Amino acid sequence: MIIFLIGFMGSGKSTIGVKLAKKLEFSFIDTDNLIESEEGIEVSEIFETKGEEYFRERETEIISKLSMKKNLVVSLGGGSPCYNNNINSINISGTSFFLDVSVSNLIKRLENGVDQRPLLSSLNKDEIVNYIKTKLKERIPFYKQAIHIVDSNRDANSIVEDIYKKIKENVRN
Ligand code: S3P
Repeated sequence: MIIFLIGFMGSGKSTIGVKLAKKLEFSFIDTDNLIESEEGIEVSEIFETKGEEYFRERETEIISKLSMKKNLVVSLGGGSPCYNNNINSINISGTSFFLDVSVSNLIKRLENGVDQRPLLSSLNKDEIVNYIKTKLKERIPFYKQAIHIVDSNRDANSIVEDIYKKIKENVRN
């Protein structure tokens, strides 16, 4: 079984993914980290030197490669489900959970520490707020195609508990 965690930057995909994988005794992969280790440079540098389109192609390639694996939790980059029909591949090869976080909480979480986020690093505070609002609106139709939608405006442990229960229920049914 492959569990895909999807959602906007700052929605907690990596934190929750690590905890969930531990609880399920599954392996864990963060696609940003995987791309970074395969490319030998950070995501921000990939955007700078090779461009966003190249990064999106790498994401698509990785989603299709991972579909062969078993017992895996995958934290996807925030944009992954929104390009190249990836959401369909995700839902065919596994179960997807959208970590749904309100705009105001995303703003709180993303206002600090934008350096590692190439899409935000050149923006000032007002621009970050606008970016989050606009981008989220654009991406919500993709995120909402996830098999499960999880209210993620709360602490990581209770989100992990909820996802874990849903997975176990589905395995039984
Ligand atoms: C992106 C989100 C990032 C990373 C890249 C682009 C996006 O991942 O893939 O900077 O388009 O939203 P996180 O969602 O893990 O921050």
